[in-house]
Amino acid sequence: MAFASVLRTATPRLAVRAAPQLARASARRAFASEASSAPKGNSGGSNNGLLFGLLGAGALGGGLYLYTRDSSDNRNVKDAASPQQVDYQKVYNAIADILEDEKYDDGSYGPVLVRLAWHASGTYDKETGNGGSNGATMRFAPEANHGANAGLEHARNRLEIVKKKFPEITYSDLWTLAGVCAIQEMGGPYITWRAGRKDGNVENCTPDGRLPDGDKGADHVRKIFYRMGFNDQEIVALSGAHALGRCHVDRSGFDGPWQYAPTTFSNEYFRLLEDEKWQERKWKGPPQFENKSDKSLMMLRTDMALMTDKGFRQYTDKYAKDENAFFSDFSKAFSKLIHLGVPTAQLSEPVPLKKIEDQAPASA
Ligand code: HEM
Repeated sequence: MAFASVLRTATPRLAVRAAPQLARASARRAFASEASSAPKGNSGGSNNGLLFGLLGAGALGGGLYLYTRDSSDNRNVKDAASPQQVDYQKVYNAIADILEDEKYDDGSYGPVLVRLAWHASGTYDKETGNGGSNGATMRFAPEANHGANAGLEHARNRLEIVKKKFPEITYSDLWTLAGVCAIQEMGGPYITWRAGRKDGNVENCTPDGRLPDGDKGADHVRKIFYRMGFNDQEIVALSGAHALGRCHVDRSGFDGPWQYAPTTFSNEYFRLLEDEKWQERKWKGPPQFENKSDKSLMMLRTDMALMTDKGFRQYTDKYAKDENAFFSDFSKAFSKLIHLGVPTAQLSEPVPLKKIEDQAPASA
């Protein structure tokens, strides 16, 4: 899929790279954390999403409905639409349709949709089992107003176009599916996604402070991500999403993109972390780094920790050298992220979501 914005923002060297794509849980329940293998790109037709939704729902054998009546679930979440009512490939294609907009940012809503999926999921606390992608509680003022979520109304509002077309999909499924769609369409790897999240109520909002602060070091990063159940390798892989998008002064206070082609998913973030010389930017804003060579790129302190901390550095080295290894590890870690906090019994089988470029023309 050709993103005009890539061509506009990429340096000649990178334009070549960009060319091919353009609970509150009362007790510990079984939570989904394992990503299964990503769907293959070239099999089946456009109804695969529907078909697998059906199969998934069938495999659950009506368990979804039984589950929603299970009084031990005190999360007070609404019944989800049964997965067989939704053709997720169609929803995917509708999201792909609204990614590009010349007037928005670098020409694509993709990066902010990825950030929405991450912030909706990254509130998970493995000790209590609350938070995570089940609930879409960022729809409510307390969580929407958390400082870390500033600017995500752009993503939520954009997705209303799709929600109106497919009212039966829950917001929590829609937001995570949008993250998957954005990554895949911006040239990233296939990501395993399962349906079945239910939307929660305002009481399910998580407390402020569960997401990371960009001006802190490795200890903070570990504390936040270990709470979700991630290890060092997964932390570094997930951070590679900063190949996408930029910081906005009016949202986080930080400023600038991490790489030259911010609407193309690649391992550039790691390569630039290692190959550029980074210095503290002298400005009135919060502490951040700039590249010495042209001062057009930025890194947060938390990004720099992936280079300065030994435990993290081994993976930064690996991903800077080997994009395939990064894609494979990112795919698994991102899939784990977007299923955090969702009881396994709620989830369908993996739903194959094909990239637009891998679909037969008739179904695209
Ligand atoms: C230590 C961990 C992290 C910190 C401190 C952090 C911090 C930030 C900050 C400050 C911004 C700028 C927001 C704005 O001003 O618009 C940002 C943007 C972004 N983050 Fe992160 N982030 C972290 C991890 C992640 C992870 C794990 C992902 C996804 C897997 C992610 C994906 C993104 C994306 C795609 C953007 C660009 C959004 C846009 O362009 O609108 N980040 N992050």
